[in-house]
Amino acid sequence: MNTLKDKLAVVTGGGSGIGRAISMSFAAAGAEVHIVDMNEAVSNAVVQEIVHLGGRAVYHQCNVTDQKEVLDLVQQLAKIDILVNNAGIAHVGNVEKCTESDFERVFQVNVKGAYNLLYAVVPIMKAQGGGVILNMASIAALVGISDRFAYSMSKGAIHAMTLSVARDYLQDHIRCNSISPARVHTPFVDGFIQANYPGQEAEMFEKLSKSQPIGRMAAPDEIAKLALFLCSDDAAFITGNDYPIDGGFINLNN
Ligand SMILES: NC(=O)c1ccc[n+]([C@@H]2O[C@H](COP(=O)([O-])OP(=O)(O)OC[C@H]3O[C@@H](n4cnc5c(N)ncnc54)[C@H](O)[C@@H]3O)[C@@H](O)[C@H]2O)c1
Repeated sequence: MNTLKDKLAVVTGGGSGIGRAISMSFAAAGAEVHIVDMNEAVSNAVVQEIVHLGGRAVYHQCNVTDQKEVLDLVQQLAKIDILVNNAGIAHVGNVEKCTESDFERVFQVNVKGAYNLLYAVVPIMKAQGGGVILNMASIAALVGISDRFAYSMSKGAIHAMTLSVARDYLQDHIRCNSISPARVHTPFVDGFIQANYPGQEAEMFEKLSKSQPIGRMAAPDEIAKLALFLCSDDAAFITGNDYPIDGGFINLNN
């Protein structure tokens, strides 16, 4: 597959889960993938896997909340054709269970992290005559989900950010879209089940799987396929949109 031949793609949170699947699929499609992630061990494992399969990948250790770190790393890159703002963290709880530090942590990573990458990358895309941006949102921003106060708000900001950037850079040939997955089986989901429902892991996994009318969680590869399409030239007419990928969660859950 050569859908992304000669493209340079930056994928935040590319060391795990959905970001890992996107990195693998973009590399298989011919892109040089730059993984931007805090977790060195998992990210290096993804780079090795890509290289082993004949692809090109580089790891950059970086905390997306730190603007200087983000600017420094982006300046090392010759060009950037694709940015996937995927790094994100979860928080389970309603407003009463969301402390100030919970609120700040979620917004630092999920909102400021995406802004930091946009701030660093958009001028480069403008100067080179265009680019594609894909932000990872969530169905949590589109419907009311219990106990996801801070997380849902942070993903609502991603939707608004997507529209704003898509509108502001139309003339610069920068397309910007978002994907809103329902539950995807990744370490993110396993982690919050373990942290928030100790002793009820199997029961919660089953409950979260069945909350998709289709009866299961998505596989990370299924999200990566949509990401690949939206970041390819096949989607050249698509900008300023959000794409739920949800096993019927939004429309069929009644
Ligand atoms: N898994 C789901 O059910 C689901 C559903 C909807 C949306 N999402 C969104 O998809 C994205 C990826 O989720 P996932 O399930 O693959 O998560 P994951 O926990 O498996 O992977 C997230 C990656 O982001 C990295 N990361 C976290 N904070 C970072 C920071 N400050 N700087 C740099 N890297 C950082 C982690 O090291 C990790 O490698 C997130 O934005 C999440 O909100 C996930």
